[in-house]
Amino acid sequence: MTMRQLNLLDIPPAIEKWKVNSFSANNFGEQIARLNLEQKLINITEISNNFNRQSVSHQLSKKDCIHRWLKYKEGFSADLVERLLEEFKIQVGDTILDPFVGSGTTSLVCKMKGINSIGFDILPILKITINAKEAVYKYCTSELKKLIKDIENLLLPTDYTKRTIYINITEGAYPDETEREIAFFTEWNKNSRYSAIVKNLVTLCILNSLEKVSYTAKDGQYLRWDYRSKKMLKSAQYRKQKGKAPLIIRLDKREIPSLKETLLNELRSVTENIIFIQRDKNRPADSALKFVEGSALFELPKLENNILDGVITSPPYCNRYDYTRTYALELSYLNATDNHIKKLRQELLSCTVENKSKLNRLKEHYVSLGKGANYDKILDIVVNNEALNEVNSSLMKRNFNGDINNKGILRMVNGYFTELSFIFAEIFRLSKHGAKVAFVNDNVRYGGEIIPVDFISTELAEQIGFNPVKVYSLKQQKGNSSQQMKKFGRVPLRKSIAVWEKP
Ligand SMILES: C[S@@+](CC[C@H](N)C(=O)[O-])C[C@H]1O[C@@H](n2cnc3c(N)ncnc32)[C@H](O)[C@@H]1O
Repeated sequence: MTMRQLNLLDIPPAIEKWKVNSFSANNFGEQIARLNLEQKLINITEISNNFNRQSVSHQLSKKDCIHRWLKYKEGFSADLVERLLEEFKIQVGDTILDPFVGSGTTSLVCKMKGINSIGFDILPILKITINAKEAVYKYCTSELKKLIKDIENLLLPTDYTKRTIYINITEGAYPDETEREIAFFTEWNKNSRYSAIVKNLVTLCILNSLEKVSYTAKDGQYLRWDYRSKKMLKSAQYRKQKGKAPLIIRLDKREIPSLKETLLNELRSVTENIIFIQRDKNRPADSALKFVEGSALFELPKLENNILDGVITSPPYCNRYDYTRTYALELSYLNATDNHIKKLRQELLSCTVENKSKLNRLKEHYVSLGKGANYDKILDIVVNNEALNEVNSSLMKRNFNGDINNKGILRMVNGYFTELSFIFAEIFRLSKHGAKVAFVNDNVRYGGEIIPVDFISTELAEQIGFNPVKVYSLKQQKGNSSQQMKKFGRVPLRKSIAVWEKP
């Protein structure tokens, strides 16, 4: 489909509400490129009843038992993947990619339908999760029942002195006894005679228990800390010494359960799910589920051309969300040091203010694969994209004007679209003709400047060679941060699923 400039009268009235009249609050900066882009793409934008906030978030997954084995609230739902597979007319034996596979929703829905899948993610907790889920038909339920009995009878020896290891950001995250319990159950699992898949399942259940047995709670960007944790007690003492009032907002997790109790609950629940799934005699056809722990940016260029029938994915959003901080407890449980975490953060698709440019490394990588010309071509598309250039220069002006609270935002936004363009270009190369691609994403706003992530991504994809098909926009739009609202007023932001096709 080629796009034409649209007459405003062609636009169905419902869409009007989803248009942005001013991309730059108080008409501070240039916005013509973004307005033109919107005019160009609004005709393929559809307010969709098929997708809603629950389906692009983890919420619906709660009823899809296997998908809730890891509490991963950044995940989308199985229902969303199912709808897109149907819309893309994906058949048994086809291959679907998710370059940012997270807890493996795309891969697992594919597996349950006999569809092959390839997934990438950089977080080690996700390898354990996906391996555990992939083995769903392989578990022996009597082994699992015996495991539960064994753990019910396990007692933490009073003279057991080992403790779980902390990193700086997780220091003091557990009550005293729990520090010993975590070390004990981990050692027990390592030395037990259970099969490798069952040991992996126990590791997943411990990972899933950590937040519950800790003094922390995942809350947006940060870990919040219970007022009884050493960190909070120290800070309260410091405030008192300095004559400051105690913090009013404090987290009280009430009674913190033991690891044994939490682990048993997790294991009982996954065992129930396994029995339920294995009881169904209509097993899907065998399919290959490939997961690689590594950065999609560096892994995709290694794959062969024309292997994909479709892509369903949701990259990190351009919203400063730092997965390595949110999952610090789980990462440190898997022996990540502060240094590992720092390095992992730099592997994230640029979505935090700490991300530095990856361009030198990417160039070296492309050259080493004999693909230096591809690198130049992709970068050329990014640096010439008008809407992105307008966003970059508006943010620069906003920063100069004191409207941006962290200069790292400028590098993050440009890095985000630059790196995404490399992903789009690789997906284009890897896709067969007619393959469809779906990107779930949120628009964002910094310093009063709206960044239409869905439309800029769609235009970059188009410049790479894709045909834009649809931008499904959710009925419920997203609000703004309180600082932005106070300073620049409220502008609802789209949550979208952009769909493209390789001609
Ligand atoms: C929005 S989440 C995807 C969630 C997934 N759809 C699900 O249902 O669980 C984005 C994922 O991208 C991963 N990620 C970030 N940078 C990456 C990179 N360079 N390569 C591969 N994965 C990356 C994050 O670790 C995170 O799991």
